Amino acid sequence: MSAGALRPIEWADGGVRLLDQRLLPAREQWLTCASVDAVAEAIRNMTVRGAPAIGITAAYGMALAAKRGEDLGAARRTLAATRPTAVNLFWALEQCARSPRQDAGGLLELARSLHDADVTTNRTLGALGARRLESGMGVVTHCNAGALATGGYGTALGVLFAAAEQGKQLHVYVEETRPRLQGARLTAWELARAGIPHTLVCDGMTASLMARGKIQAAVVGADRIAANGDTANKIGTYSLAVVARHHGVPFYVAAPKSTFDLALPDGRGIPIEERSPSEVFDWGGERTCPEATPVYNPAFDVTPAALIRALFTEAGEIESPTAAAVARVVGER
Ligand code: MRU
Repeated sequence: MSAGALRPIEWADGGVRLLDQRLLPAREQWLTCASVDAVAEAIRNMTVRGAPAIGITAAYGMALAAKRGEDLGAARRTLAATRPTAVNLFWALEQCARSPRQDAGGLLELARSLHDADVTTNRTLGALGARRLESGMGVVTHCNAGALATGGYGTALGVLFAAAEQGKQLHVYVEETRPRLQGARLTAWELARAGIPHTLVCDGMTASLMARGKIQAAVVGADRIAANGDTANKIGTYSLAVVARHHGVPFYVAAPKSTFDLALPDGRGIPIEERSPSEVFDWGGERTCPEATPVYNPAFDVTPAALIRALFTEAGEIESPTAAAVARVVGER
């Protein structure tokens, strides 16, 4: 299947259908969520994950609530309480709240249009970002910002897919992304399906690859970008940006306008989700550390804008992001 064809979220008569990302790459299995509570649980347990994908799923969840005659205010609160960091979730719920049609047909139409628009957006920002990449480059990415994390095509992976469509030969280094392994399980799966050469590495291996001259660019996605360009993304992104700066490797962020939170002046206000310590210490049912050892598991970190060479959005690119540069390109969402 081509990189662009995969859509991990669907509407079906029985509810919202999700490609179960917890099972990849071993099994391609779809899960149908037949109630708002089931949709919320699928977002919380990461059956579906990635900032744009959870926003689109929540929009379908609101259509499901209307179809089932559930209270829309309660449905919105349930979906909003799932994961705090990705602003796309709250943006999508806001679009639903503002819809002039609050019936099932109207909300479904809206969810479908947000979904389609996301894929179009990703193709636009992907083509834009791909202009920065040249044949022969090694490119590192972190987490999964591909079709699975969006309505389809992907943001950071959209840049790599677009480069491949432009005939550029890249080699992608995929950071495995502790603790949930979105790089190993999801990004490697997407790149393999698309036939893009890649190598899986542990997160701590990238610095030595850069020191050996194997990597010429870093491209990642985002969960929330503050007005000054500070960017929250999967934990480990900040250390990748620091390592890239040390080696003079340009660090790029690809994200739609719906990932910007212009109400936050800088990254200090971005809420960072903390997930269960078991995601860190559990190793196939075995505990990797003593029972008494405290474990910290923040799911995201914030990369200061100063470490970002450029942000790629559907409205254009933002070179060396500052508040003024972000406002010029993103303006009002
Ligand atoms: O915890 P996750 O897997 O939902 O985190 C996802 C990421 O951090 C992605 O990089 C981000 O959402 C961008 S997706 C296009």
